[in-house]
Amino acid sequence: MSPARKFPVLITAEQIARRTAEIGRQIDADFAGEKVLLVGVLKGAAVFLADLARHISIECTFDFVAVASYGKAQHSTGAVKLIKDLDQPSEGRNLILVEDILDTGLTLVFLRKLLMQHRPRSLKIAALLDKPSRRIEKIEADYVGFTIPNRFVIGYGMDYAERFRNLPDIRVMPPDFPE
Ligand code: IMP
Ligand code: MG
Repeated sequence: MSPARKFPVLITAEQIARRTAEIGRQIDADFAGEKVLLVGVLKGAAVFLADLARHISIECTFDFVAVASYGKAQHSTGAVKLIKDLDQPSEGRNLILVEDILDTGLTLVFLRKLLMQHRPRSLKIAALLDKPSRRIEKIEADYVGFTIPNRFVIGYGMDYAERFRNLPDIRVMPPDFPE
């Protein structure tokens, strides 16, 4: 049994499913008669993207980008580096950047700038979670699942050292977690 099954639940799988369905309906309404390209940020957003996509009724394709962040804790510069770019051309398309957590904002500011260079028709951001108290960069998501306090969470795609992504609920990691 995963030790994380004992961590306190912050957001249940049912709450996530309800909110994800609402965001899907909102995207359908906002892009009625158009198509969207969902761009997931690996790996954390993979689970959210998979569920969100199934609540979108308009025509929709997927792509993924991957980034690495350096020295977030140690250096105030918090450099972000692209590890994997889009596979398909995005010029003239409606992009929705899908992320697990909007935290300091460094990742999404970097990715927004990068994707804008591809000259999309539009670019929106969907973040399952928003931790506004941690923000360094000035950036907001267009679609937010839940606004949460400054706690480290795992589950539903989110990890601690690559662990616990498979948990269906979002849980708070105790600060004294030993392993
Ligand atoms: P930022 O907005 O550039 O600071 O980074 C956001 C990324 O940091 C997210 O995509 C997550 O990968 C990671 N992250 C931030 N907070 C948490 C958390 O509470 N649990 C797991 N990953 C987190
Ligand atoms: Mg991430």
